Formats: sequence, C-alpha cells, structure tokens
Amino acid sequence: MLEIFVVSYTDFCNYKTLITLKFKKMKNKHMILGVVLGNNFGNNPNTWRKPHIDPGSYTNIDATVKQAQAAERGGMDFMFLPDRLFMPGNPTMSPPMFNIDPIITLAAVAQATERIGLIGTASTSFTEPYLLARQLKALDVVSRGRAGWNAVPSYEAQAFASFGKALPPSDKKYERLHEVMHIVQALWGSWGKEVGQPDQTGIFADTAHIRSVNLQGKHVGTRGPLPVPPSEQGQPVIMMPVTSGYGLQAAGIYADLIIAMQANRSIRHTIQEAAVQAGRTEGDIKYLSFAPFNGFTYKQVADHLQRNFEAGAADGFVMNFDDFHTDIDDFVDNVIPILRERGLVREGYEGATLRDHLGIQPLYGHDPRVNTIFE
Ligand SMILES: Cc1cc2nc3c(=O)[nH]c(=O)nc-3n(C[C@H](O)[C@H](O)[C@H](O)COP(=O)(O)O)c2cc1C
Repeated sequence: MLEIFVVSYTDFCNYKTLITLKFKKMKNKHMILGVVLGNNFGNNPNTWRKPHIDPGSYTNIDATVKQAQAAERGGMDFMFLPDRLFMPGNPTMSPPMFNIDPIITLAAVAQATERIGLIGTASTSFTEPYLLARQLKALDVVSRGRAGWNAVPSYEAQAFASFGKALPPSDKKYERLHEVMHIVQALWGSWGKEVGQPDQTGIFADTAHIRSVNLQGKHVGTRGPLPVPPSEQGQPVIMMPVTSGYGLQAAGIYADLIIAMQANRSIRHTIQEAAVQAGRTEGDIKYLSFAPFNGFTYKQVADHLQRNFEAGAADGFVMNFDDFHTDIDDFVDNVIPILRERGLVREGYEGATLRDHLGIQPLYGHDPRVNTIFE
C-alpha cells in the first residue's frame, strides 16, 4: 500500500544530526581545476567579433565539444555550465551568455569525452523533482559517473516571469529548494545498489532493494521509485553557489562543491561550519572560486592560484577565459605545466568519475548523517 508522509518544514537553524558516521578524512593535496563555458565564444562579450570565430557558432555543439576536449587534454577536473532561464541583456551587440539547455549540451559532450566532469545548472524552483532526478541521473549514467548538478533556486524576477510566476519571498523559495533537493536525492537512491546486475538464469532485479519514496511536501512530492540504476559514481555531485542565510544552510546540508566569485578564507570557513552544523565534516565541502586568466602572465596566473590555495582561501578554481577557442589551450599548455612542476596539480586523471577527480566521498541517496526535512 502507498504510504504518504505529511511534511512539516522544520526550522533549519535547529536541525540536528541523526546519525554520525565516521568518514575517512580526505584532504586535497592538489587543487581542483574546472572551466566555466557557455555561449561558445568566451566571457568577454566582444569575442564573437574576432576574425577566427564563426559568429553563428553560439549553439554549435562541435565547438563546445572542442572546448571540453581541450580542457580534458589538460586533465582539468570539470567543465561547468551556468544558466539563466530568460534572456539577460540585450543581444543587439553581444550574444546571450546562456542559450541551449545545459543538461542536453552535457549529454552530447559526454559522448565525445572520456574523463572530464560535466557540471550543469538546473533550477529548483520550476521543474518537478521526479523529472530533475531523472534527467540528472540519466546524465550521470550516460557519462559513466561524470555528472554534477549546480543546484540554484533562481533569483531574478525575469526567470520566474518565464514561468508566468512572480518572484517568491526567499523563505518560500528555499522551502521548495529543500523539498526538491531531498526528494531528488531520495529518488536517486531508490534503485538500491544491492540490486546489482540482472541474472539471465534467474531474476532481472530483486525488488526488495527498489524502494518507493513516498514523500509529499508543501510544494512538491513523489511516490517513486526512479527506475535508474547507479552510475559509476552512484549519483551526481551537487554544486551550489555561495550565498548567505537560507542558501548557506542548504549548502551545508546538500553541497559537495561551492562556487564563489572570490577566493576567501573566512567565507570558506563559514561554509565548512555550515556542513559541520548539518552533521557532515568540513572536508565534505570543497570551496571553489572563479579565477581570471586574461591580462596576466602565465606565471602570475599560477602564482595567484597557488597563493590562494595554500592560504586556505579555496580548494580549487574555475577558470574564466575571454576566448574559449584559444585560451583553454593556452592555459593547458602554459599554466598547467607550471602548476604540475610545483606539485599543485596532478599529472593526469587518476580516476574515472567526477567524485574521483574531486576527492569527495561516495554518496547514494541521502547523506545519512544529516537531518531530514520530512518528519
Ligand atoms: C558564483 C555564483 C554562481 C552562480 N550561478 C548561478 C547560475 O548559474 N544560475 C542562477 O540562476 N543563479 C546563479 N547564482 C545565483 C545564486 O544561486 C543565488 O540565487 C544568488 O546568489 C542570490 O541569492 P538568493 O537566491 O538567496 O537571493 C550564482 C551565484 C554565484 C555567487
């Protein structure tokens, strides 16, 4: 019989640990390195005018694949696609920064790459969690365990207008985010790892290890299960942008990775504290910041990354390039060798999954150490 639990939204300031497990403490000896990609041109809004660029290529998947392959050649840990669900700015003089859907783009890139992690943005404010869980786990399975989800609640009124909605108050927006994150993780874990492989002489799947989810919140709900087996890394890695207030509490519970504009020791510490408050350990959250490349010498870029990494201001960096067509190769050929020589970046990929690259704990379903919002 289907069981439905009624949800009460708990005060997250008071959430407490249910179970504390002893996890092996993992310290990154090497810095994490990713690259932020987007409209195929670069972060400089005028790059589309350069003579070596096809100005019509902003939705050309071959161009995105080439950029991902360049980063993979350098052993970079992941590519990251931010997203907005509306058209920011005016496209008269510069291209839209975000255009085709990140998850579909990454599924195509997955087929043309082997190791690089693939982190895409999807909002928690619009899509039903069953669909989000299904798409993101599909990306993880298709990429053989290389997927990551940048989970954002969206913040601009225009994003909500795209769905015919008004911008909700922050507490409501994060209330939905918590329900969505919790349900997505529950769905990811609902096809148990113990199901294993089909036995051609016996049963296809042991349903004792396939569990319904049966969660109903104020905003969203699901019965489940999700009929998708684990990927090579179990389930996608979760990234969240740095914020304060409600966002900080959410990051403490769910995020494996934080993306910030700036390297900052004290903000990194605050985020780590939020993880500890949630029942996790400080090493469970890796703090990444965007880092500039253009306008500096190769040595200056390497020095900047090293200084911030060694000062504990970041666990790694997401490189920002003006021109994706030339700068990724330039970074791979000229900065990564300096970082390798200094022992700050590994010589190449050592594992196959995004979790391997990042040195983060395996997780399937919920983290059993953190309190649940569904009680
Ligand atoms: C480094 C960074 C990256 C972000 N990336 C995205 C993104 O790709 N899409 C998005 O809708 N919001 C993005 N955000 C916005 C945050 O998710 C958040 O909504 C915003 O900081 C406002 O906080 P609030 O939602 O609590 O009001 C990003 C924020 C930062 C600092």
